[in-house]
Amino acid sequence: MDKILVHGGQSLSGTVKISGSKNSALPILAATLLTKEPCVIHHVPDLSDIHYMLQILSHLGAQVERASGVVTVQAEKIGTEAPYEIVRKMRASVCVLGPLLGREKEATVSLPGGCVIGDRPIDLHLKGFEALGAMHRIEQGNVKVFAGQLVGGVVNLRGKLGPTVLGTDNVMMAAVLAEGTTVIDSAAAEPEVVDLANFLNAMGAKIEGAGTRRIVIEGVKELHGAEHSVIPDRIEAGTFLVAGAIAGKEVTLKRVDASHLTAVTDALVRSGFAITVNGDSVTIRGNGDPTALELTTEPYPGFPTDMQAQMCALLSKARGISVITETIFPQRYMHVSEMKRMGADISLNGPTAIIKGVERLSGAPVMASDLRASAALVLAGLKADGVTEVNRVYHIDRGYELIDEKLNGLGANIERMKA
Ligand code: EPZ
Repeated sequence: MDKILVHGGQSLSGTVKISGSKNSALPILAATLLTKEPCVIHHVPDLSDIHYMLQILSHLGAQVERASGVVTVQAEKIGTEAPYEIVRKMRASVCVLGPLLGREKEATVSLPGGCVIGDRPIDLHLKGFEALGAMHRIEQGNVKVFAGQLVGGVVNLRGKLGPTVLGTDNVMMAAVLAEGTTVIDSAAAEPEVVDLANFLNAMGAKIEGAGTRRIVIEGVKELHGAEHSVIPDRIEAGTFLVAGAIAGKEVTLKRVDASHLTAVTDALVRSGFAITVNGDSVTIRGNGDPTALELTTEPYPGFPTDMQAQMCALLSKARGISVITETIFPQRYMHVSEMKRMGADISLNGPTAIIKGVERLSGAPVMASDLRASAALVLAGLKADGVTEVNRVYHIDRGYELIDEKLNGLGANIERMKA
């Protein structure tokens, strides 16, 4: 397994280009199953999670071609079973349920296991399918959903921990070919949900209200092929803004939609950093150690859970005491024990992390656990004394395209050691 050596102490400056959004590309690639015609998707990032999704589409029978960031998919004839050996590697594979149910009226996908950030149930996805007249059963670790016909219905998709992003995507993808009107209340409003709705509408769907808590879908008979450009990855952008806050003099991000990350830029400004937006560029100027913050992760447009670990890395050296409360994945603190090995002073009380700023962090061998925690450990290493060795780097490669090369392009000193 590869590992990354981060030699701390370098200052970052310059420009970095942000890739297309992983969390938008995944459901959009799944949505290509809804038509027999070819679809062309631009700005698809080169990530292992995307590779797994393309494997699933091929396994289902779709023709898949990839030429650098452009993916062409044609699903003329498809099966309806997504295999365990691929699904177990990426729980987001669950988002093929909706398009397979919509087009073939049945789908079998291995149940996504939990993961280190917590339990990953799909009860709300199934509740949405039931509202369309589908039934489901669990057999041999698979979930099978099926329907004689799909009829539009009304469903409230709010769970005890808020809306569901992939659940909203799945129900939307099943509803576009249902007979009649579907209303999704308490829908997720993330930019990635809007991007998927825009792609589906380009295919001939009739979806209104994406980006709000109420999405209304008029079912249509069939969808046609379409061409689409995936939105920029707001979490990669936030991650590089935090890198600029931790180690930057002046770092500029290109190809960013700043309107997708106002909660993150607002937090960084409150922590004392200067942020300027100029079209699709965002610049952050470092000015020493950050000011402590109180943050609570919330559904979009609130502060994103996918940026919580990165902020822990930044606030570990803030003047004062910061408090972070994780309301979406309350156990999402695998990075804390590793940061404490670097000298961070963080204590956990259930979903709340109390972070007492320290003068210095020291490099150490640390273990990557999940995608965002791993990136946060690299960020912590940027300003630590000495070398931070991040093991199990495959976690990072799931969601960040060439993060070591991009950071080195800004002046970091990061080595990737092939295992
Ligand atoms: C998406 O996951 C993202 N993944 C996650 O990003 C992100 O953290 C999450 O949304 C929240 O924003 C992709 O888009 C591929 P949810 P998703 O359903 O849709 C509970 C990353 O780092 N819930 O919005 O799976 C669930 O347990 C990844 O890129 C139910 O209870 O998350 C969680 O507590 C990590 N029942 C909360 O809702 C359900 O049926 C939000 O989950 C579904 C979810």
